[in-house]
Amino acid sequence: MSKEVTPIEDLVKTAIKEAIAKRLGAEGPLTTPVEAVMPEVVEDKVSTKIDKKKIEPGPNQKWASKIFPKIIFGTRDFPVTVFAPEDWDERIMEFIPEVDPTYVLNKEHVIHILKSWEAKEKVLIYGPTGAGKSSIVEQLCAYVNRPFLRVNCSGDMDSSMIFGQQIAKDGGTHWIDGSVTEAVKYGAVFAWDEWDVTPPEITMGLQWLLEKNGKLFLKEKPGTSKEKFIVPHKDFLLVGIGNTQGQGDDTGMHSGTNVQNTATVDRFDTAIRIGYMEEAVETKMILGKFKDMDSDQVKGVVKFGNLIRQSYTTGQLGLTLSPRAILSICSKIANGYTLAEATDLVYINKLVESHQKVAKELFRKIYGSKV
Ligand SMILES: Nc1ncnc2c1ncn2[C@@H]1O[C@H](COP(=O)(O)OP(=O)(O)OP(=O)(O)O)[C@@H](O)[C@H]1O
Ligand SMILES: [Mg+2]
Repeated sequence: MSKEVTPIEDLVKTAIKEAIAKRLGAEGPLTTPVEAVMPEVVEDKVSTKIDKKKIEPGPNQKWASKIFPKIIFGTRDFPVTVFAPEDWDERIMEFIPEVDPTYVLNKEHVIHILKSWEAKEKVLIYGPTGAGKSSIVEQLCAYVNRPFLRVNCSGDMDSSMIFGQQIAKDGGTHWIDGSVTEAVKYGAVFAWDEWDVTPPEITMGLQWLLEKNGKLFLKEKPGTSKEKFIVPHKDFLLVGIGNTQGQGDDTGMHSGTNVQNTATVDRFDTAIRIGYMEEAVETKMILGKFKDMDSDQVKGVVKFGNLIRQSYTTGQLGLTLSPRAILSICSKIANGYTLAEATDLVYINKLVESHQKVAKELFRKIYGSKV
């Protein structure tokens, strides 16, 4: 006798109905537990834990806890490959970034990104503007001495920037590599920044490279097929960074972002969302960079930033106030501006007039004075 199978659509509909009923506090038992359909991820069940006794770091590896002594990894500690600057070809050696000691690292992000790199995975990082997406990749490169090559993509960019081009020189022409080509050849981390606004023909040019053991094919490069193929250096890594996860922008906040080909999205092995920091963490981050600032003043600016973000999310304001903008406000204060002047210059003047009133009202809510 064949077992009756409930169609997946029905399961999802039932789960959603029940979840809503549960949230609204509806009475009566639920027919199917929501958890049975949409299991919660319980951190303890995620096997990112390792048995330190069974794993030995390799000759070029160090425990994450040794590289980041301020982070408590506990049972989630893991070996990380750490390079020496001389390990790299001198053409990319200078792209190893500097560690910023004031940079606040999020443990989950550090674990997920570095573990993916150890597994040679392609990583996708997405989230709101100014949340720290590009900078965390740069900082992790700095800690492990990996060269970091970043390209900020735009809808009208030329493929030569990424792949390379023929240039005229000494009466002849010769090929110069673009940034992804250099990263592939010499083993850097290629930060494909604003990946979701990249013109489709460039994205398609990266498609093969995104695969496990993928290669780069430089179709514009003159020569034989063999000369156009590049097998990546063993340490080459690619990180896609953008505001969306490639499914389009359902918020209307990120103009220019496009729905990406499913095949492209599918090629990323790991996707990580980086959102804004909690107020306490953001306050700590700012105080780390502006040591002379009054901590109550910093708390106020961060609170204001969070009110602005909420109003932006609900559509009351057309522009968010990112950690980047908060840092600019603090930098202006450090240069002698008052808080009100700095807020005006960095943020409020960029809003349309009706929104300026909303922002000023939020400012008054916190400070009780006019901007
Ligand atoms: N955790 C952090 N610790 C210290 N500084 C941070 C942190 N996160 C972000 N910043 C600072 O905030 C600014 C914006 O960060 P970043 O450029 O990485 O954001 P982003 O998410 O890539 O933004 P966008 O979407 O606009 O590209 C940078 O100056 C960065 O140094
Ligand atoms: Mg960025």
